[in-house]
Amino acid sequence: MAEEPKKYAPKSFAHLKGLKGISDGVLETHFKLYEGYVNRTNKLTETLYAMAKEGQAAGSNPAYAELTRRMGFEYNGMVLHEYYFGNLKPGGTGAGATGKLKSAIEARFGSYDIWLADFRAIATMPGVGWAITFQNPENGWLSNHWVSLHEEGNPAGFRPILVMDAWEHAFVPDYKANERAKYVDAYFANIDWAAAESRLK
Ligand SMILES: [Fe+2]
Repeated sequence: MAEEPKKYAPKSFAHLKGLKGISDGVLETHFKLYEGYVNRTNKLTETLYAMAKEGQAAGSNPAYAELTRRMGFEYNGMVLHEYYFGNLKPGGTGAGATGKLKSAIEARFGSYDIWLADFRAIATMPGVGWAITFQNPENGWLSNHWVSLHEEGNPAGFRPILVMDAWEHAFVPDYKANERAKYVDAYFANIDWAAAESRLK
C-alpha cells in the first residue's frame, strides 16, 4: 500500500498569468501568501498531532488551545485560496454564469442580475474576508455569504461554488484600498464559469 502523503502540497496556479485587470505582480505576491498558508497548515497539523501524542492536548493548556484556534484560520486560508484561484482563468469572457449554474442561480434569486447585485453587495462590504456563493448540498439552494478573515461565517457542510478573495492583498496595488468595486469588476471579467459549475452537487 502506498504511504499516505504527510503534508499538503501547494498547488500551482502559474497558468493564471495574463488576467484582465489583475496584474501578474499581484498574482505572484498572492501565490506566495497562499504558500504561506499551506506551510503553516502543515506545521500546525504536525505540531497538534505531536502534542496529542505527547499528552499535551488539554483545554487548560494555553499553547494547545491557541494553536487549535489558529487551525481554522490557516486551514481555511489554504483551502479558500485554492477555490479562488481555481475559479479564475485568463481569457475569460465576462459573460456570466451558464448552464446548470445559471439555472441554479435563477431558481433561488429569480434572475442572474439579482444574484450578481447580491454577490457584489457582499463583495464590497467593509472588512477583511471573502464573498462566496455556497450551495447547500441538502436542498441544492445557492446563497451568498460573507466570511470574515478565513474562518468565520463558513456554513458547515456547504459547498463553495464561486469564491472571491476580498482581502486587500488580492487587488492592491492594482487598485487603491478604497476601490474594491473596481477589483470586483476585474474579478468578474476573469471567472472560469465552467470550473464554478463543476463544483455543483
Ligand atoms: Fe488572498
